[in-house]
Amino acid sequence: MSSSIFLKTIKGEKCNRPPVWFMRQAGRVLPSYLKLREQYSFQELMNNPQLAARVTLLPVNELGVDAAILFSDILVVPEALGMNLVFTDKGPVFSNPLKDKLENINSLKAETNRLSHIYETIGLIKNQLSDNKALIGFCGAPFTTFCYMVQGNSASHSFPEAVKLIYSDRKLAAKLLALITELSVEYALNQVKSGIDAFQLFDTHAGLLPYELYIDWVLPFAKTITSSVRQAGCPVIFFPKGLAGGMKHIGYDVADYVGIDWQDSLAGSRKIIDKNVGLQGNIDPRIFSVNNKQVLFAELEKFKDFGKANYNWIFNAGHGVSPDNLFENVKLTVDWVKSTEWNR
Ligand code: CP3
Repeated sequence: MSSSIFLKTIKGEKCNRPPVWFMRQAGRVLPSYLKLREQYSFQELMNNPQLAARVTLLPVNELGVDAAILFSDILVVPEALGMNLVFTDKGPVFSNPLKDKLENINSLKAETNRLSHIYETIGLIKNQLSDNKALIGFCGAPFTTFCYMVQGNSASHSFPEAVKLIYSDRKLAAKLLALITELSVEYALNQVKSGIDAFQLFDTHAGLLPYELYIDWVLPFAKTITSSVRQAGCPVIFFPKGLAGGMKHIGYDVADYVGIDWQDSLAGSRKIIDKNVGLQGNIDPRIFSVNNKQVLFAELEKFKDFGKANYNWIFNAGHGVSPDNLFENVKLTVDWVKSTEWNR
């Protein structure tokens, strides 16, 4: 059995504290990352296996988190489908968004060798990661990836053209979702083969759709990915941000764990979600921007009762940490989770 508290917990073992890691921990909040960014662009860091492995390990060493998350991006999948991507100060931008020429969906083709450097990165990370830490691989869920591919950028967080395509041409939308799903399954399974210990599927924009449409029509694509990864023996966390009332439909058939955003409480979510599914989350990451330790510790105290009664829980934030978060607050949070007496 692994000595990693993250892996023990995700596999159902009762541990004396929750494991802790953060979405977006590998960039943004770390002074050492920001320093590296003065020298290299984000894409240079991501595409060079040595550098990507180094960045992946920074938060393990500097924050003391229990798991590393692969330093990459969900948008490598559209790139491998032939789309041209640049990361600008305003976020990712595709030069040829599908909304401008929807028939281009029919000519997208997977070039799987464009992802092979990522498998090399995973190998390098695993060689350097100690046994008591886990490596999380990931990709974007088909719907979130679809939003970026159709809209071309995230200037409007409502991705209007992407949502419109689902209502106006269900068949073409399904074709694109199926293409993304097919490549994502291959990509995820190669991550498993390369040595990841767990996998997270990010559906950051799940909340854009009425949840019945999401559950009936979009979730099956995501489930194709989660099922393939679980069949390969790798535990899966699913993060459908903003799904709200739709969370009651996320059962053990979808994932081992589900990420809870900061809108609902963990206790509230626990009441509506299948008992066999563990929870991950959900401190509001904006609290990390407040320069007042009392505010932070008061918020952390609120997790004590939940953590005492629930051992199938991974401590995380309700969304990613961001550059305006204070490194010290994130570090204090990790230390607090690890040093608290959880009375389990
Ligand atoms: O800890 C980590 O950061 C792990 C690696 C990781 C990145 N992106 C690196 C990254 C992961 C897991 C992602 C996922 C991702 N990327 C998502 C889903 C999760 C989420 O946070 O909602 C989405 C929607 C994207 C697309 C994306 N990439 C956006 C919208 C942006 C710009 C805004 C932002 O979040 O910074 C990125 C850029 C990005 N991806 C950076 C990093 C470290 C910042 C690059 C920089 O240094 O400027």
